[in-house]
Amino acid sequence: MSKRRFVNGHIGPSKEDVDYMLNKMGFQSLDELINETVPESIRLKKPLELDKAMSEDRYMKRIKWIASRNRIFRTFIGMGYYNTYTPPVIIRNVLENPVWYTSYTPYQAEISQGRLEALLNFQTVVSDLTAMEIANASLLDEATAAAEAMLMMYNTRSRQQEKDGIKKCLVDRAIWRQTKSVLETRAVPLAIEIEYADFKDMKFNGKEHFGLILQYPDANGDICDYRSLVEDVHKEGGKVSVATDLLALTQLVPPGEWGADIVFGNSQRFGVPMAYGGPHAAFFATKEEFKRSIPGRIIGVTKDVNGKKALRMALQTREQHIKREKATSNICTAQALLAMMAGFYAIYHGKEGLVEIGNRVHNLTAKLADALEFIGIKRINKYFFDTLRLKLPDDVDMDALKAKFLLEKINILYFDNNEIGLSFDETTTMGDVQILAFIFTVFLGKPYREVSKTNEIMMPLDLLRKSDFMKQEVFKKYHSETEIMRYIKRLERKDISLAHSMISLGSCTMKLNAAAEMFPITWSEFGALHPFVPISQAQGYQLMIKYLKEDLALITGLEATSLQPNSGAAGEYTGFVVIRKYLKKIKQGHRNIALIPASAHGTNPASAVMAGFKIVVVKCDEKGNIDMVDFKEKAELHSENLACSIITYPSTHGVFESSIIDICNITHKNGGQVYMDGANMNAQVGLTSPGEIGVDVCHLNLHKTFAIPHGGGGPGVGPICVAKHLKYFLPGHHFTDKKRKNDLVVSATPYGSAGIFPITYGYIKMMGAEGLTYATKIAILNANYLAHELKDDYGIVYTGEKGRVAHEMILECRNFKATSGVTETDIAKRLMDYGYHAPTLSFPVHGTLMIEPTESESLAELDRFVEVLKNIRKEIAEIESGVADKEDNVLKNAPHPQYIITADEWKHSYGREKAAYPLDWVRENKFWIDVARVDDAYGDRNLVCSCQSFQ
Ligand SMILES: Cc1ncc(COP(=O)(O)O)c(C=O)c1O
Repeated sequence: MSKRRFVNGHIGPSKEDVDYMLNKMGFQSLDELINETVPESIRLKKPLELDKAMSEDRYMKRIKWIASRNRIFRTFIGMGYYNTYTPPVIIRNVLENPVWYTSYTPYQAEISQGRLEALLNFQTVVSDLTAMEIANASLLDEATAAAEAMLMMYNTRSRQQEKDGIKKCLVDRAIWRQTKSVLETRAVPLAIEIEYADFKDMKFNGKEHFGLILQYPDANGDICDYRSLVEDVHKEGGKVSVATDLLALTQLVPPGEWGADIVFGNSQRFGVPMAYGGPHAAFFATKEEFKRSIPGRIIGVTKDVNGKKALRMALQTREQHIKREKATSNICTAQALLAMMAGFYAIYHGKEGLVEIGNRVHNLTAKLADALEFIGIKRINKYFFDTLRLKLPDDVDMDALKAKFLLEKINILYFDNNEIGLSFDETTTMGDVQILAFIFTVFLGKPYREVSKTNEIMMPLDLLRKSDFMKQEVFKKYHSETEIMRYIKRLERKDISLAHSMISLGSCTMKLNAAAEMFPITWSEFGALHPFVPISQAQGYQLMIKYLKEDLALITGLEATSLQPNSGAAGEYTGFVVIRKYLKKIKQGHRNIALIPASAHGTNPASAVMAGFKIVVVKCDEKGNIDMVDFKEKAELHSENLACSIITYPSTHGVFESSIIDICNITHKNGGQVYMDGANMNAQVGLTSPGEIGVDVCHLNLHKTFAIPHGGGGPGVGPICVAKHLKYFLPGHHFTDKKRKNDLVVSATPYGSAGIFPITYGYIKMMGAEGLTYATKIAILNANYLAHELKDDYGIVYTGEKGRVAHEMILECRNFKATSGVTETDIAKRLMDYGYHAPTLSFPVHGTLMIEPTESESLAELDRFVEVLKNIRKEIAEIESGVADKEDNVLKNAPHPQYIITADEWKHSYGREKAAYPLDWVRENKFWIDVARVDDAYGDRNLVCSCQSFQ
């Protein structure tokens, strides 16, 4: 067994490197640096009491054992989650490929063309299948997508509807139970009223309702004709949102063809394992006229400065940063990796393949329906695609039936009144139909009959799909494994990821996502579990969830954890609602003011508004610290109504503010709760904690601090940890918490993105308390080393009292505009020529770059990055001194794509070599860029969001 300690692989600098860096900065020891950086008043008094670190070998055994405690039954539960067969070519080349899973959200379009194309493909699949004009990529899950649909319908009410105070949303009773729960949660803070009704006696009244939500096929599996209802809704001035199933739409007339305004759902069954609830990509499609209101990210076609077609994130890019509390939604991290997988699945199968799968699923369902009808089992849904809702005779002993199915290791759905449900999927076989038919026949004591060969279509004939879809070239070319493997590789080569070089994005913590942490997520023991299997079949998950919750509570110094939120922003929303519920309970429900520093991430105000808070912005001083005079004044001014203050620590300016304790005290004194955005937890773990500081609730970004990869824009996990007095108000779920009235449900499933918990669990177990604390110290060391090396060339915008930065720092770039015309964007684009992803651009301070190296980057990589930035500084100096032209220079023309470098014609005042190989060592690992600088404005003016015009 290898004795190698995991931490040694996770941490970049060796012991000697650490000494060298400290020495260069004038420190005797790492602790001396830490003491100068992290205020004494908030330091932990004793080390974290976590288990001792495990080696990779030991962890593998442990996680195998945990996995073995999950039991995989044949599952026909449905309810929006289906068995699926992920083509191995997608597992190997996408899900298990660090280029795909470690890349960042494609804000830097020129080095993200691969994943942008993959996401564009996903959007095209969605808009084609739903027959809608525009689709996004992507949302967190179907239930939250429903909430986004409700909010979008609400926000796009007509002036008159707003004036008339129309606040009711009509919802069909036959939608998934989990969707209802999330809708109900999200409606409350905005005082939206949800009215449920049965489709057959539904009456939409434009004087009361602003919108209608339907599901197609519905939760009973039935396929209803909503066409005249939709017409009525439109006549009444309302809008219609439809939850649907992409596979069913290969067979059925899509909602876009019968007038739906919004169509949403989950793309999970397109090759993404169920994974006990997630992560999967929800989709959201709408009409062109609502393009400015669509939540989440949209990929659009544009061109680069030379007119070459290119892709970039359109319209909503960074929308929360610009619109803040006026943002249409708080969605930031979504489920990009899973959306890309679903897109590749559709490409691999093509239209014919998907139609064939859909046909087969329906056919097998029809065969079972026929067999069950033969033995007298009544079907409740007249029509169906893949789901049967059945009524067993009243004298059937349901407990015995349940026991029989469990004995056979089969899961189906059980309802009251002797009703059951069954859903089929692409993995269902004729053998499954025969076994199910046999079990029911024997159980009811009926004579057995061979399953018939019927191919009867049990979908309404006038709702069978006639329109074509997925006609674009991309869906025709890649049906052989060789071809799709090469296509995936071709896209992959266009993207910079952690497999290429450091991604120093401040606030994003692009640390190592170790292979040992990633291994278990593709094991079927974790992947194949339906979120609503009996707990007894998910003992492995339950154990891991328990340990993970305990460890995260311990690390944050708080009392309890909820793992339900699927992203950081979802965590924020959850934390704010927890605060609201607590305040209501202590009869302070009127408190609704949230104090938010001007430097806060845009999702903070966006989420706070969604939770029903009013935002009061607190100033920051010239050092980037919260202006304490302003903070105190505003807290006192609003003391009657103060609900909370929302802080990020260390601040988004990369500084450990020593006023943090005062911030907590002032907030508490004025009746508010303290919420901490945990995006910067990587500077805290093991040294201080939200609990130690006096915070009441915080969210964590497991996709930052705790080693879950960014996946090109998700998955994410945004658990919240709370102090004791808030524990009772944590999210629940009807499935796990039958006794409690669950009025805070923020994800479709009880544990959100459970399938990726093994990554964080592995990270904590293999690092141990010592390793985690050391990682924090090295993250701070690496940032301070970069600050030390770059301060003379650029300047560091903010430092703490003793001149140190936290785990990230802001590089001054604002002066170059006057001296050379160079902007922070030019520097970001020039970095690409050297093979680097830009740091965070213009956040939180406009005109700057925020750098966060993380603990995983080695000294050699830090030095390379320093050399690059110093060389760029020299290139700026050449413009300043007139050696280089002010317009035609390497920065203004950056990045230099391959097609420009290799063109016969070269029009620039500098050479090709300077453009492409600005430092000698760049040759060894040259990252060839696909497109020149992308024209964002052109794309926004000429919005095209599907792939037909891209090929
Ligand atoms: C400080 C901060 N808060 C909140 C968020 C939102 O997190 P998520 O993207 O997971 O929703 C981010 C994301 O970058 C962030 O940097």
